[in-house]
Amino acid sequence: MKVLFVGDIVGASGREVFFQHVDALRKQYQVDVVIVNGENSAHGKGITRKIYQSFVNAKVDVVTLGNHTFSKNDIFLFIDDADRMIRPVNMEPLNVGQAVKTFYWNGVKIGVFNLLGKVFMDQATESPFVAMERLLKQYPCDIHIVDLHGEATSEKIAFMHYFKDRVEMIVGTHTHVQTADDMVMDGCAFISDVGMCGSYRSVIGRDIDETLRKLLTNEKTRFTVATGPAVFSGVVVEIDTDSKRAVSIEKIQIRPE
Ligand code: FE2
Repeated sequence: MKVLFVGDIVGASGREVFFQHVDALRKQYQVDVVIVNGENSAHGKGITRKIYQSFVNAKVDVVTLGNHTFSKNDIFLFIDDADRMIRPVNMEPLNVGQAVKTFYWNGVKIGVFNLLGKVFMDQATESPFVAMERLLKQYPCDIHIVDLHGEATSEKIAFMHYFKDRVEMIVGTHTHVQTADDMVMDGCAFISDVGMCGSYRSVIGRDIDETLRKLLTNEKTRFTVATGPAVFSGVVVEIDTDSKRAVSIEKIQIRPE
């Protein structure tokens, strides 16, 4: 089974580059399951029903979220009906939407889990380690895929070492910068951060001038989403459905010309 996981889709340019490449990548890598992180897809913060539906129409299997899950009020109108969307288990409000998506692929039970990191992330209500232990007991699956949405590479790497024998794929999201630590460790595919789909000339998807003004003068800025041609970032992970362990991970990064 091959899983294409696409990193944080940031605003209109991120959505555009995702839809531009997803079908070709499905064919090229013979992808079976597509997962995207959509927490920045609606103008950089949150997701709307319309955007979620566009992912469903593109046959995305699961949309994961993060600390901006509830940034658009629209989310409360559709999250409980969005059966292909999951939100981090360990952030408020806890009783809205789902944090785990399970489904069958060729008779194999797949579980996709969404958690928030706790290091440098003040929204996390609970350690992702404690939360994941509980979820593994609650949702027994053959193959477990985790989106750990967090700031710190160290926390994500530690999480991988702790869960690698029980989880087959752990990918980090949130920093928008694709890391070079992709590996398969004892049957668990891992990368600290998948990277983003978003404007290439930007500061992690945001307007460069506004970000610089904030950093140089502490001016209050809106952190407007940057426009222009975007980079596509993701990984393709192959999981052996007989041994139920990961066998490979390949980074994908397509930069604009
Ligand atoms: Fe985030």
